[in-house]
Amino acid sequence: FTAASVALTLSVSAGAVAAACDDGEMVIKFSHVTNTDKHPKGIAASLLAERVNAEMDGKACMEVFPNSTLYDDDQVLEAMLQGDVQMAAPSLSKFEAFTKQFQIFDLPFMFVNIDAVDKFQQGEKGEALKNSMQRRGLQGLGFWHNGMKQMSANKPLEMPGDAKGLKFRVQPSDVIVAQFEQLEASPQPMAFSEVYGALQTGVVDGQENTWSNIYGQKFFEVQDGSTETNHGVLDYLVVTGSDWWEGLDPEIRDQLATIVEEVTAERNAAVNEVDMEARQAILDAGGVIRELTPEQRQAWVDAMKPVWAQFEEGVGADNIAAAQEINE
Ligand code: LMR
Repeated sequence: FTAASVALTLSVSAGAVAAACDDGEMVIKFSHVTNTDKHPKGIAASLLAERVNAEMDGKACMEVFPNSTLYDDDQVLEAMLQGDVQMAAPSLSKFEAFTKQFQIFDLPFMFVNIDAVDKFQQGEKGEALKNSMQRRGLQGLGFWHNGMKQMSANKPLEMPGDAKGLKFRVQPSDVIVAQFEQLEASPQPMAFSEVYGALQTGVVDGQENTWSNIYGQKFFEVQDGSTETNHGVLDYLVVTGSDWWEGLDPEIRDQLATIVEEVTAERNAAVNEVDMEARQAILDAGGVIRELTPEQRQAWVDAMKPVWAQFEEGVGADNIAAAQEINE
């Protein structure tokens, strides 16, 4: 055991990786907003740091700041452009301000499951998206999966009409805002770290998120229950500043890129397992999960899918066609 590996082990078990960075090592700060336990992003970020710190020892060191302890998602990209943080993995909804093509991931019922999302991201369209924000100073390094989104509220949601008149917390995404307006509900954009309190105090009635977020943030404790709608996807882009990335010593950049690629492949392959574990953990903790009959689910599809038409121009009909071809 070296002192660094002991420090790393201790800090991983504490949930936050504050690696002991040695003098002369390039410090890579990775900021994110979720918890680290039973969470696809939390686990992937910790593994990334563990590998960088072991394999790039002496050259680089990574510190992970989870749970919005450093930045919320609405601050992190700005901080990255300022050079205050080097890596993050915000949800894909947070990139629509940079290019509207990312809106494809927020369109309800666009992808049948995470495998379909994976195929799209690995294809030509996905590759192009990673490089689509270079002019705005951002470089995508890889897509990390979380899972399909579910709906929850302070009353049972069985049919789309049950959402009518309720206030739902949304990520800052025009598509998700339109989706809830389509349900005649009232969307309220809000940072992730504020959602639990807003649900608890009744500032909002409901929210949509994945099992790992509903479990990790304990939303199920302050909701009547969750409905397994699988109506959309919540995934991430591992992102860095293009200037920082381009400025790296090519050898260091290649090594880092390879580690990111390998961690991405390993954790994405395990994502369905993590998703199902979080779902089970909600049930074990006494949370309520409602499943839909095929007829009920179809009613949600019919109610929400019309929003596609509003966004087709920005998203690109070619992107939509490529996604639909994968679903078939
Ligand atoms: C959210 O804002 O609900 C999510 O994007 C949080 C996350 O990173 O999973």
